[in-house]
Amino acid sequence: MKINTATFVISNTDVSKCPAEKIPEYAFIGRSNVGKSSLINMLTNHKKLAKTSGKPGKTQLINHFKINDEWFLVDLPGYGYAQVSKSKRKTFQSFIKDYFLQREQLVCTFVLVDSRHEPQKIDLEFMQFLGENGIPFAIIFTKADKLGNSALNKNFTKYKKQLLKTWESVPTHFITSSESAMGKEDVLKFIEQINTDVAEDFIK
Ligand code: GTP
Ligand code: MG
Repeated sequence: MKINTATFVISNTDVSKCPAEKIPEYAFIGRSNVGKSSLINMLTNHKKLAKTSGKPGKTQLINHFKINDEWFLVDLPGYGYAQVSKSKRKTFQSFIKDYFLQREQLVCTFVLVDSRHEPQKIDLEFMQFLGENGIPFAIIFTKADKLGNSALNKNFTKYKKQLLKTWESVPTHFITSSESAMGKEDVLKFIEQINTDVAEDFIK
């Protein structure tokens, strides 16, 4: 799929104030610093559409970006970031949860996990939360450029094994790098397919 336009629409902490427009929406979630904002920039061919930082905790709001005037990408704050104050973390958690439970336009969530790390409890629990609430998701392994092929394969095999303890089959997944644009076409193709599949549900 070709990205012709990608524009920032609005940031907020209140799901009821998110854009009212009924178009398909894709959310990016995962631990702070995993590369959510960078991935949005990579997919849309922008350097600075979503704000990124080497320090965790950069994205603190629900950010809507409109793509090709037809669908939204949503950049969210990271979960599980210890340096954010406890009260802030609680606020994050409640508005992120509200977003996932209430946003009707949400057609798929991308759960980002760092390719370099062992499966983390917080990510597995979040996938469980999505599953229990009937929210479709796919997994995106990020920062693949930081690993060689054999380490990547080893980690990926381990992750799949862990997932099969909970899920009947390994959920849809992509291996990506925002540095090298690895996985870009596959993720965009996946989104394009969902856009086609759900088109009837979004007739104005
Ligand atoms: P929060 O907004 O804090 O939750 O973080 P985030 O998940 O949006 O992460 P962000 O995109 O800001 O990236 C965090 C850091 O990781 C930045 O320094 C990025 O340059 C770096 N980074 C992100 N993706 C990649 C990648 O694919 N490869 C490499 N090498 N670095 C990456
Ligand atoms: Mg971010």
